[in-house]
Amino acid sequence: MKKMVLHGGRALKGTISASGSKNATLPIMAATLLSDEPSTITGVPMVRDIRTFSELIKILGANAYLESNMLHIQPDTIKNFRAPYDLVKTMRASIYALGPLLAKYGRAEVSMPGGCAIGLRPIDLHLMAVKKLGAQIEMKHGYVIATAKKLRGARIVFPKASLGATVNTLLAASLAQGVTVIENASKEPEVTDLCNFLQAMGAVISGKGTGLLSITGSRKLNGVKNYKVIPDRIEAATLIAAAVITKGSVTVENIRADQMSLFFEKLREAGVSFEIIKGGAVKIGPRRVRLKGTDIATEPYPGFPTDIQAQWMAMMTLASGDTIIKENIWENRFMHVLELARMGAQIKIDGNTAIVTGVKKLSGASVMASDLRASAALILAGLAAAGETQIRRIYHLDRGYENLDTKLSAIGADIRLENEDSV
Ligand code: EPZ
Repeated sequence: MKKMVLHGGRALKGTISASGSKNATLPIMAATLLSDEPSTITGVPMVRDIRTFSELIKILGANAYLESNMLHIQPDTIKNFRAPYDLVKTMRASIYALGPLLAKYGRAEVSMPGGCAIGLRPIDLHLMAVKKLGAQIEMKHGYVIATAKKLRGARIVFPKASLGATVNTLLAASLAQGVTVIENASKEPEVTDLCNFLQAMGAVISGKGTGLLSITGSRKLNGVKNYKVIPDRIEAATLIAAAVITKGSVTVENIRADQMSLFFEKLREAGVSFEIIKGGAVKIGPRRVRLKGTDIATEPYPGFPTDIQAQWMAMMTLASGDTIIKENIWENRFMHVLELARMGAQIKIDGNTAIVTGVKKLSGASVMASDLRASAALILAGLAAAGETQIRRIYHLDRGYENLDTKLSAIGADIRLENEDSV
């Protein structure tokens, strides 16, 4: 097993590029299964979750091949309809197999995902939606078994905006008979990217980017050639935070600033100087003043993303004054707090609120990563801390960041992966 070793205190300098979005690619991979024709997706990040979903596609009997950020999917040989526990337990997005399998083949068996490090992660809204479209649902031996002769369009009203449930509904409705209306749909950019892909497949969708989506089911959908996935706004924010926390001067390329508006507004409030460059880049710093404690509350898009909460907290550990951070999406997403505290951060937790009292400096320590974004937060803290930081269980990072260590070391970070010593 690998650990990450960092020596902090170096101001980062140079130009780096964000990769394509993992959370946009996964729903698009599921959408390709709605057709018999092959699709190719470009700008795909070479990360573990994408490989895991490719594995799932192969288990279903189809073919997926990832090379040089390009993904080829040949979906016409599907003959299994079961997403097995061993796979689902490592990646909850496997639930995206439900919509397309059900709509195209009339049967889907997906292992119940169970909880994870950040919260309960229920799938009740996914199931409610496919039931409304006419599916029968049975729970057997830890599996959701969904069947349907032909799905029919329906009006679906979500009590809360869920990215995953909106994705599954869009996927299922695209091959259903008639019109489906989704109220309180997720407005996350990854959902809009899926809508764009589905439209390229021939699907009829209106209301893109709003909370009210309407889908007119098609009889058949085509494959799509060379669809370019949107940039990863969470990775972009992490790279920007790395520049900010080290007082560096860094240009981050391949970003969609329009999809990161609130993040940039908060950065400005925190006293960070930056320039958004036309064509998709941002130039950060250098910063000569201390960061100002700036509160955030995580909300569905266009609110502040929960997937940037941990990274924001890492920056705020060094800001002046108190910062109040409210986590409104996941019930257990403060696992990084105690680890940051081991590096000298002062943070109190009260329910879903963390109060960060800025300190003048962090000191390197041995810490443990608990999930993908917590890993990123610990790396940020390590880049700013005095001395050596060692991050164990860093394998979480590979799920969603493409070569983060190489990218950061290219702009001056002292960061490397080492084999963990056995204790
Ligand atoms: C997606 O998860 C992302 N994952 C998560 O990113 C992200 O944190 C989350 O959206 C919120 O933005 C992927 O895109 C693969 P939700 P998802 O359904 O779709 C509740 C990362 O780090 N809910 O929008 O699972 C749920 O409990 C990951 O890359 C139900 O109650 O999230 C939560 O409070 C971690 N019932 C809220 O909705 C349901 O059936 C939003 O969850 C489904 C969700």
